[in-house]
Amino acid sequence: MNRLNGKTVLITGAARGIGAATASAMANEGAKVLVCDILDDQGEALITSIRTFGGEAYYHHLDVTNEEHWAEATRLATQYFNGVDVLVNNAGIYLGKSFEEASMTDWQRLCDINLTGVVLGIKALLPSLRERALSSKHGSAIVNMSSVAGLVGAATDPLYSLTKGGITLLTKALAVDFGQRGYGVRVNSIHPGAVDTEMGRQTFAARAKALSTDDLQLARRQSIEAHPIGRLGTAEDIAQGVIYLASDEASFVTGTALTVDGGFTAR
Ligand SMILES: NC(=O)c1ccc[n+]([C@@H]2O[C@H](COP(=O)([O-])OP(=O)(O)OC[C@H]3O[C@@H](n4cnc5c(N)ncnc54)[C@H](O)[C@@H]3O)[C@@H](O)[C@H]2O)c1
Repeated sequence: MNRLNGKTVLITGAARGIGAATASAMANEGAKVLVCDILDDQGEALITSIRTFGGEAYYHHLDVTNEEHWAEATRLATQYFNGVDVLVNNAGIYLGKSFEEASMTDWQRLCDINLTGVVLGIKALLPSLRERALSSKHGSAIVNMSSVAGLVGAATDPLYSLTKGGITLLTKALAVDFGQRGYGVRVNSIHPGAVDTEMGRQTFAARAKALSTDDLQLARRQSIEAHPIGRLGTAEDIAQGVIYLASDEASFVTGTALTVDGGFTAR
C-alpha cells in the first residue's frame, strides 16, 4: 500500500472514470494528489472520498487547453506539496465520428484537448518535475494516457486515433530527449483497451453506428469479443498500470508504451 509513499501527483481529467480511479488508487498508495478537471462537483466529491480513507488530496479547476489554468495548477502544487513528482496527463475526449463525418471544428476540439492539453501540461510542469528529480533517488515521471487507438487504427474514430498516436510518439521522443539531457524525468504512455466508463460507452455507440444498428448491447458484446481476455477493462485495471509507471519500481522504464488491453493488440 506504499508504492507511491511521499510522491506528489498532478492528474488531469480526474473527476470521473479512469482519472478518478487512478487518483484514488494513487492516494491509497501513499501519494499526495492534486485532482484536476472541469467537472468541479465530481472533483470535490472525489477529494472528499480520498480524505475519508486518510489520503491527502486537493481539487483544482483545470481546463487542459487553458495555459493560465496550468500556471495556477503549478503554483498550487508548489504551495501544497512543494512541487510535483508525477504528472498524469489523463484528460481526453472521444469523437465517435467517421473521417467523413468529422468537421474541422470537431478536429480542432480533439486536437486542443487530446494533444495541446498534454503539451501545455508538460511545458508547465517540467521545471517542477526536474527540480523534484534533483532530490529524489529515482527521479520524476510523466504518464500520458494514450489508447490502443494510439497503437493500431481505430476505424470508428480515425481522428481520435490520430491524436492518441501523436501522444504515443511524443512520449517516446521526450523520453529520449529528457533522458539524454539528464533531467531525471521518465516519460511513458499507457494504452487501455475498452474501459467501462462514460467514454467506453461512447465507443459502443460509435461501434453500433458503424454497424448501422441502435443495439448498444450488441456493440458492447462485440467490443468484449475484441478483447481475448473476455471482458472489458475497469478503470482500476488502468490505475494499476499508471501506479507502476509512476512508481520507483519502474525506475529503468522510459519511452515505453504499456498496453493494458486484455490482449486487444496482441492479434
Ligand atoms: N474508456 C475507454 O475505453 C478508454 C480507452 C482508451 C483510452 N482512454 C483514455 O483514457 C482517458 C480517460 O478516459 P475515461 O474513459 O475516463 O473518460 P471519461 O469521459 O469518463 O473521463 C474523461 C475526463 O476528462 C475530463 N476532461 C474532458 N475535457 C477536459 C478538459 N478540456 N480539461 C480537463 N479535463 C477534461 C472530463 O471532464 C472527464 O472527467 C482519456 O484520455 C481517454 O482517451 C479511454
